[in-house]
Amino acid sequence: MEQTIEQISYKELLALDHLPQHIAIIMDGNGRWAKTQGKHRIFGHKNGVKAVREASEGCAEIGVKHLTLYAFSTENWNRPQMEVSALMELLIMTIGKEVKTLQKNNIKLNAIGHISLLPDSCQKALKKAINETSNNTGLTLTLALSYSSRVEITDMVRTIAQKVKNGQLEPSEITPDIIGNHLYTHNIPDPELLIRTSGEMRISNFLLWQIAYAELCFIEKYWPDFTKNDLFKAIYDFQNTERRFGMTSEQITN
Ligand code: IPE
Ligand code: IPE
Ligand code: MG
Repeated sequence: MEQTIEQISYKELLALDHLPQHIAIIMDGNGRWAKTQGKHRIFGHKNGVKAVREASEGCAEIGVKHLTLYAFSTENWNRPQMEVSALMELLIMTIGKEVKTLQKNNIKLNAIGHISLLPDSCQKALKKAINETSNNTGLTLTLALSYSSRVEITDMVRTIAQKVKNGQLEPSEITPDIIGNHLYTHNIPDPELLIRTSGEMRISNFLLWQIAYAELCFIEKYWPDFTKNDLFKAIYDFQNTERRFGMTSEQITN
C-alpha cells in the first residue's frame, strides 16, 4: 500500500548537510480555511499562528539559517478595515507571546517592508522582540510586513540614483551584486526554496529579484493546516531536484 504524506516522516529522509540556506513562505489561505469551518476570515488568521510556529520551529530544529514569512503585503492594506485591524492586533499579541519560544529556539527576529506604516503599538512590539532576540545565533526569522517587492525595487533604484547623482557611484559600476546590496534583504542570502500554500500559483509581489533561481513549491493545503512535515517534504523535494542554473545535466553531475 502506498504511504500518504502524513504517514511518511520526511525529517529522517533529509540530507542535513544539503539544506537550503534560506526558505521563503507565502502563507496563504487563512480566509478560505475559516470558510470551510463556517467561520469569519479572522478565525483563519488566528489559526494561522500555529503554522507559523510549525514553520519556524521546523527550520530551527534542522538548522536552516533563514526563514522569511510573507505576513502582510502592501496590497493587504486594501482589505476591509476590520480585517486589517484584527491582523495588526494579532501581530502584537503573537509577537508578545512568542518571544519566549524564539529565545528557547535561539531564533533571531527580523522584519522587512515599510514598517513605519504599521500602527505604533505594532512597531513597538516588533522592535522590542527584535532587540530582545538580537543576540540569538540560530535561525533568522524575517517577517515581511507592509511589504511589496516592487516598492523595495523602487526604493533600491532611488538610493542608487541618489548615489550616482552625488558622484559616489558610476552607472557602469552598477552590477547585480550592487543591486542586491541595496535591497531590504542585503544581509540575507537569496531564497533557494519558495513555498506557497493554498494551491494558488502566483508570487503576489514577493521577493521578485531574490527568487530568480529559487525552487518553487506550491502546496494544496490552506496555511492553518501547514505542518513541520509539509516543510520537511518541501525540503526533501528540493534536495531531490537537479538545480542546473542554466547549465546541462552533465555539467552538474561531472
Ligand atoms: C493569508 O491568508 C494571510 C494574509 C494575506 C494576511 P488570506 O487572508 O489571504 O486567505 P485567503 O487567501 O483569502 O483564503
Ligand atoms: C499574499 O497573499 C500576501 C501574504 C501572504 C501576506 P494574498 O492573499 O494577499 O495574495 P493574492 O491576493 O492572492 O495575490
Ligand atoms: Mg490569500
